[in-house]
Order: sequence, then structure tokens, then C-alpha cells
Amino acid sequence: MANSKPEPKKLFIKTYGCQMNVYDSERMAEAMGGAGYVETKSPDDADMILLNTCHIREKAAEKVYSELGRFRKLKNENPDLKIGVAGCVAQAEGEEIMRRQPLVDLVVGPQSYHKLPQLEAKARSGEKALDTDFPIEDKFEILKKRPKAKRAPAAFLTVQEGCDKFCAFCVVPYTRGAEVSRPAPRILDEAQNLVERGVREITLLGQNVNAYHGAGPGGNAWSLAELIWALNDIDGLERIRFTTSHPNDMSEDLIEAHGTCEKLMPYLHLPVQSGSDHILKRMNRKHTAESYLRLIRKIREARPDILMSGDFIVGFPEETEEDFQATLDLVEEVKYGYAYSFKYSTRPGTPAAERAQVDEDEKSERLQRLQSLITRQQREIQDAMVGKTVNVLFEKPGRLTGQMVGKSDYLHAVHVADAKVEIGDIARVEITDSAANSLAGRIKAA
Ligand code: 5AD
Ligand code: SF4
Repeated sequence: MANSKPEPKKLFIKTYGCQMNVYDSERMAEAMGGAGYVETKSPDDADMILLNTCHIREKAAEKVYSELGRFRKLKNENPDLKIGVAGCVAQAEGEEIMRRQPLVDLVVGPQSYHKLPQLEAKARSGEKALDTDFPIEDKFEILKKRPKAKRAPAAFLTVQEGCDKFCAFCVVPYTRGAEVSRPAPRILDEAQNLVERGVREITLLGQNVNAYHGAGPGGNAWSLAELIWALNDIDGLERIRFTTSHPNDMSEDLIEAHGTCEKLMPYLHLPVQSGSDHILKRMNRKHTAESYLRLIRKIREARPDILMSGDFIVGFPEETEEDFQATLDLVEEVKYGYAYSFKYSTRPGTPAAERAQVDEDEKSERLQRLQSLITRQQREIQDAMVGKTVNVLFEKPGRLTGQMVGKSDYLHAVHVADAKVEIGDIARVEITDSAANSLAGRIKAA
């Protein structure tokens, strides 16, 4: 029986990896909305499954292949189901994915999402569809619509993509390409649209976000600080964050903004990767442990209560126990509120892949030592919040009746029982308790 209006097709997107992939998945869903798709939360009833993948470490890529294998049953049950791989594994492996996993109909790299509807149509016609070009045209511009749907209060906004730094361990310069900054007026327009849809906090995203140098309204390049100051003027936008930064791009104006820009939150993710100068040199980081520590002192002069966050790699080729000890010393000195640490993972095609590798057990042992130090430090910083009053942006109901959960200025998760606040409210909360991964508190009367 023919329907007068076709049922929308269902799209299931699974996102791996960083926040930029979260942002890209939202844009892919919007692009496919134009092709008659609505999102579904389960792969079981989907007409199309898209895996938005991460290639940063070996395990991340392997997970994609094992996940794909699990879709065989669904594809047997529904031969019309189309399966696509997007993101950095798509970019790095291209056609190889279809050879290794013939279930895959479509492969699309991170710079080609605006072409998804065409690729989907091609896949529907029974052909394999692939696009991993780095096109000249601006995918953001082509994806740009002015959607109206209500949004959660905290949103990501990609302002910069790609990386020119070529750290010796990292695939990003190869999968995401060279640094590109979006023009400031388009970012401000997108931010304004987000605010109209209920957003109160925006996290500016970029692989190297503080190297941002997009064209301002007059054509001159704006720094990230200039962009932040312009966002600061948007009524209704209350909080601005940015991630991820490289120490060498922490310009004076950005450091100063941390002290003077009211909406810029006191939280900074500034990866250092290692505390050993020898390893930093071999990583091609172009800074030393001391220059990083000096930078942090300067940032703290501008904003004494800033909460620092970082990334670390243990077991980078040639790392000795002494090098590793230097990393522990640096962590002790900085005192991180959050830190993410990883075992070095060999990425084919990157310079470090060719070098003498550290024994796997040694890497595991170092990771464990580093993580226990980081966990202790994080906990101390979190526990020290007890008794303080912080601003909390409420994002969702908690598990208990009447409970609401939000984030403090410092990005700590905060639970409040019987909160009597709405999603999107910002309230003063007195912190009363600190648990493993979150704080608890009570609303302070105004
Ligand atoms: N092995 C382990 N960790 C890595 N990272 C990037 N490349 C690798 C790799 N080959 C980590 C870095 C980076 C974070 C996003 O991932 O710490 O800051
Ligand atoms: Fe990778 Fe970051 Fe280094 Fe760029 S700066 S190569 S994204 S680790």
C-alpha cells in the first residue's frame, strides 16, 4: 500500500574519539536530515548505520572493525541496510576498509561530510561509495543551515581543524590535514543560532584551537582571544571554553583573556605529553618541560584559580625510567585537575613508528604509576572544592528523583538533590561533598 508521505528513514550514528567527532556527528545528522533521515538510538531499526571513527591509537581503529563485524546479522535481516564508515579511520584507510569488511557500503573522510547525501544515494543504487578528498570548498559553509531545534545547554562548535605541528607520534596532521580556521563571522553566526536554541555554554573546538587565525569581519586574521572577546558580547551566552591547545600557541592575548574575560571559564586543557626534555625533543614538541612550567605560572598569574588539564603519553620510543620520572615530577609540580594518559601506540606512517619501542609490560607499569598519581591529584583538587560556592550550569536530571546534574565553572560534575532548577539554569551551589567522580552540593539562596 502506497503512503502519501514516505516514512522517514532512520540513521544510527555511533561516535568514537574526540569532541570534534561529536560535533561532526551532529553535522552529519543534519546533512542526512535533508535526505529524509531522522536519527535513531539503536542500530536494530536503522536504514543506515554510520560509525564516526577515531584513529588516534591502534585500539580505537581495531574497535571499529570488531563493531562492523557485529552488524552482519542486521544486514542479513535487512539487505537494504547501508553501513558507512566516517571519520579518521575512513580517511586513513579509505578503500581498504571495504576490502577488509565487505559489509561497508560507504566510506567518507572528515572533510567530505557535506557530500553524505550524494554518497548515500550512490550506495542505495548498489555501488560502493567513497570520498576521502580534502576538498577546497568549505564543508562548514555547505553544511550551514539555520536549524531551529532546541539544544542542550552546552554545545561544541568547531572553529579550527587540522594540525601543522607534526608531533612524531600523531596521525592528526595526516587524517585531518593542514590547519584551517573558519572565518569569525560564520562562527559568531553559528554561536548566535545556538544561543537562540537554548545553548548557554559553548566549547570552541580545534585540534590546535589556540592556533586559530580565521578571517575577521574586515578580512584581517583574528586570534582565538579576539574571537572569544566577540563571543563574550553575545547576550544569553554565559560560558566559553576551548580545547585542545598547544603550549607554543598560548599567545599573550589569550593568557590575558583568562584573567579579564568574564565568560571565559577557569579551565584549560594544555597537553604537555612528557616531562622529559629528551623525549619532548624526540616527540618534535618544540618546547621544554621548563618552558611549559613557566607558561603555566604565567597563566596562573592571570587567573590564579584556573584548573589545569593535560594529556600524557608513556612509553614513547626510547623513554627511560629517568625520562618517565621527569614526567611524574612535572605532574607533581603542575597539579592537574584532570589529566588523560595513554600508552604510546605505534601509528604506521608517523616518524616514531620506526624507532626502538619500549617493552609493553614496561609501558603498562608506567601508565599505572602515572595514573595513580593523577587520580590522587585530581581527587585532592576536587575534595578542596568542598565548602566553596561555585556556579553550576544544570544540564540534565540525575538518577535520583528531584536530583539535577550540572557542571561547575571548573568542569566538575555537580549533583544537587531537590534542586528546583530547570535544565539550562545557572545557579550558585555550595559544595558539600566530594565523591569519586563528582561533587554534591546545595543551591545557595540568592
Ligand atoms: N599513542 C598514544 N597516545 C597518543 N595521542 C596521540 N597520538 C598518540 C599515540 N600514537 C594522545 C596525545 C594527545 C591525545 C589526544 O592522544 O596525548 O594529546
Ligand atoms: Fe597531534 Fe596535537 Fe601534536 Fe597536532 S599538536 S600533531 S594534533 S598531538
